[in-house]
Amino acid sequence: MDASFRDMVDGRTGLIDRRIFADPLVYERELAQIFGRCWLLLGHECQIPNENDYMTAYMGEDPVIVSRLAGGRIVAHLNMCRHRGNRVCRADSGNARSFTCPFHGWTFGNDGRLDHVPGLDEVYYGELDVASNGLVPVGQLDTYKGLIWATWDRDAPPLLDYLGDMAWYLDLVLDRREGGIEFLPGVHKWQVHCNWKFPADNFIGDSYHGPVSHKSAWVSGFEGQPRRKPGYGYEGFQISPGNGHGLGARWAESPEEYVAMGLPEFQEYDRARLPEAEQRLGPVRAWKISPMHATIFPNVSILWQGGTIRVWHPRGPGLTQAWGWCFVDRDAPAPMKKIVRLHETHRHGTSGTWETDDIDNWVMSTQASRGHVARAYPANISMGVGHESSFPELRGRIGKFQSEINQRAFYSHWAEMMASEGRWPALERGGESVAERAAGGR
Ligand code: FES
Ligand SMILES: [Fe+2]
Repeated sequence: MDASFRDMVDGRTGLIDRRIFADPLVYERELAQIFGRCWLLLGHECQIPNENDYMTAYMGEDPVIVSRLAGGRIVAHLNMCRHRGNRVCRADSGNARSFTCPFHGWTFGNDGRLDHVPGLDEVYYGELDVASNGLVPVGQLDTYKGLIWATWDRDAPPLLDYLGDMAWYLDLVLDRREGGIEFLPGVHKWQVHCNWKFPADNFIGDSYHGPVSHKSAWVSGFEGQPRRKPGYGYEGFQISPGNGHGLGARWAESPEEYVAMGLPEFQEYDRARLPEAEQRLGPVRAWKISPMHATIFPNVSILWQGGTIRVWHPRGPGLTQAWGWCFVDRDAPAPMKKIVRLHETHRHGTSGTWETDDIDNWVMSTQASRGHVARAYPANISMGVGHESSFPELRGRIGKFQSEINQRAFYSHWAEMMASEGRWPALERGGESVAERAAGGR
């Protein structure tokens, strides 16, 4: 590799060395520097509501078991037997106080302790160090308004510092109503022959592709009625709150304009929940900004209205396993939950009308990054360079709705994480407001 990892991304010009999407050495380093250190999403507390409930998840390529212990505390461990490495839990979810390895029968409590070793006295002569052979725990685990996060890095900054001002925007999903959100049962899972960064990049700020890649959805009438003005540079912002996170949001001048921006089948509910949202979040976050898409560095993405939260699990430089959950307000009426579920499935399910458009783009862009000639030419995310600003009522740096400000922030942060060995790059802190909210338990 003839360039340092930091040199592979030029955030000033918006040019990116295309090898970051294909090179096996880059990928190996990502597993350590990105997925071995960052806070990663495991799921939602509602998925394991009872004592001894568990679910399985991934952190990078590493499988984990997430358990709620007796007493309510949530823990997560590497789903790997300490004997020969077999996976001790094969189910997606369930209720169990212990996990027995199907290879030779070592049995681990859901708190990670090695509870039973077959033949401990007879064949190990009682000499196996049982206490130090428990399941490997994650470095840190924390929750933010129901979402469960963990990092392998004991020295990673606290979750709220890691999220920074992105937490302020996440509240638009997580805190709009009393009770927050819930994940509807089940997970969409599918594999895409693309580098994991392409979907993360797409969701963080690519409003540019919508009118072209998804044109068929608009002209076919699938969306019900046209809700977008023609052209570019209109109606909203890309917002870069720092630390590699980003979101795109439209801007409304009145509550009714905000409601009208929503999908037709959501408008009645959006109008009904507006007073509660305004009381909880204030007018800016209740209706002036209307977020559409986001990525939380490195691999968590959200589509607000459809109600989908994604994790892009890396499976090699050219393969991504996508997990998608459908989320709704916990207290939404049952008919509304059904509408959200159907909408999410039709539009963003594994064969959804929009999903398939996006997948093709990511696969082709990944393939180009492998070509000997093609990868000599950098990828270009220069849209809006030098035209970034701030906006009085919003946090973070702002670009036009069609702008690549968020991609530049994402890849610049990626480069910093890749280059910074043994220390964390300086995070842009959320400031007093985040600290205050943490102190208030919000
Ligand atoms: S690999 Fe698990 S008991 Fe042997
Ligand atoms: Fe798309």
